[in-house]
Amino acid sequence: MLDLIVRNTNLPDGRKGIDIAIHEGRIVEVSPAIKATAVSELEATGCLATPPFVDSHFHMDSTLSLGHPRLNQSGTLLEGIELWGELKPDLTVETIKKRALALCRWSIARGTLAIRSHVDICDDRLLAVEALLEVREQMRPYIDLQLVAFPQDGYLRYSGAQENLKRALDKGVDVVGGIPHFERTMAEGARSIKLLCEIAEKRGLQVDMHCDENDDPLSRHVETLAFETRRQGLEGHVTGSHLTSMHSMNDNYVSKLLPLMHEAGLQVVANPLINITLQGRHEGYPKRRGMTRVPELLKAGINVAFGHDCVMDPWYSLGSHDMLDVAHMGLHVAQMTGIGEIKQAFSAVTCNGAAVMGLDLYGLEPGCHADMVILQAESPADALRLRAERLFVIRRGRIIARTPRVTSQLFLGKDQTDVHFNCDLL
Ligand code: FE2
Repeated sequence: MLDLIVRNTNLPDGRKGIDIAIHEGRIVEVSPAIKATAVSELEATGCLATPPFVDSHFHMDSTLSLGHPRLNQSGTLLEGIELWGELKPDLTVETIKKRALALCRWSIARGTLAIRSHVDICDDRLLAVEALLEVREQMRPYIDLQLVAFPQDGYLRYSGAQENLKRALDKGVDVVGGIPHFERTMAEGARSIKLLCEIAEKRGLQVDMHCDENDDPLSRHVETLAFETRRQGLEGHVTGSHLTSMHSMNDNYVSKLLPLMHEAGLQVVANPLINITLQGRHEGYPKRRGMTRVPELLKAGINVAFGHDCVMDPWYSLGSHDMLDVAHMGLHVAQMTGIGEIKQAFSAVTCNGAAVMGLDLYGLEPGCHADMVILQAESPADALRLRAERLFVIRRGRIIARTPRVTSQLFLGKDQTDVHFNCDLL
């Protein structure tokens, strides 16, 4: 007898009326009207089953610290950095853990079961590394948490960063980070990319750098990142995060850059909520959007995922770690409102993010981990439109979160009507 069958669900690829059979933590069959019986069954008629949401770019060490030691009055990136500098000396392993665990619970409730978090290693005590390694282990049954050694104050600019990055990787941090545009010169930025890619190559690790997170069209470190990726045979293992300067580059240069990025197998993470609020701050009207060129990157065959980046921290006061919020903002900012593009936006917070993180056995195919979310929506477009309720969140075949269906009741004259906003058109 099987463990669980999800009955009569819709799938992101458009199939409807599909059953998903689960046994011993794996999906064993995906087809209409499965005859077998199971210990429990979940009725999901008209609901969308999706692989879990993936946040491929987040900062777990600063999350939920809003208001400590004070609020960001200007809302800018620079005041956020100042604020983080003021907060850092007061951090303890316990406070970081407490906030990160609270964030993980929010994530699970929202159906996000994989998070790549950058961890600031420009603190010689490496408290955040210690705290988040513990959180990674504690949450392993529920969330795939991947940590990036992130030299926030510059790998070459901050005097202890080189030693701290090595120590963080020795302790078990998963991915090599970087921030080339924050080094003292363009040349130092390029040198940091070279050194960091060499470390990744030697240790067999992935690379994920904050890269060109500004509005300067001459911030072209992504070019060096693509070059070093090829030179060191890291194709498919390197991610450029943010890449906001690409928004401001001239089209001639970008027409050269995109094939270089594709050739290097670079992956890209845009962070729509943060890019739209932190970029374009140095100018009057008209203001640039400051998000990288998502449709053009996708068209060039480059994998693009969306990340949340921040929730209630020095840089962003809002958010509940909802990846549908992220994709909703992303598709608006990038004007991805064609029906195919809306589906791409959904992929940017599901399978594209899983590809960035290199997750094994992710998906709704037989043999995959039985990890999924049942949404109160009929299709990916519907899920985005409604930021739909996550009715059931399933991890390894077990329900780990549930949220009641949302229905509004109207009292108009004598009639009582239920309104639920679902609409099977897309
Ligand atoms: Fe970031």
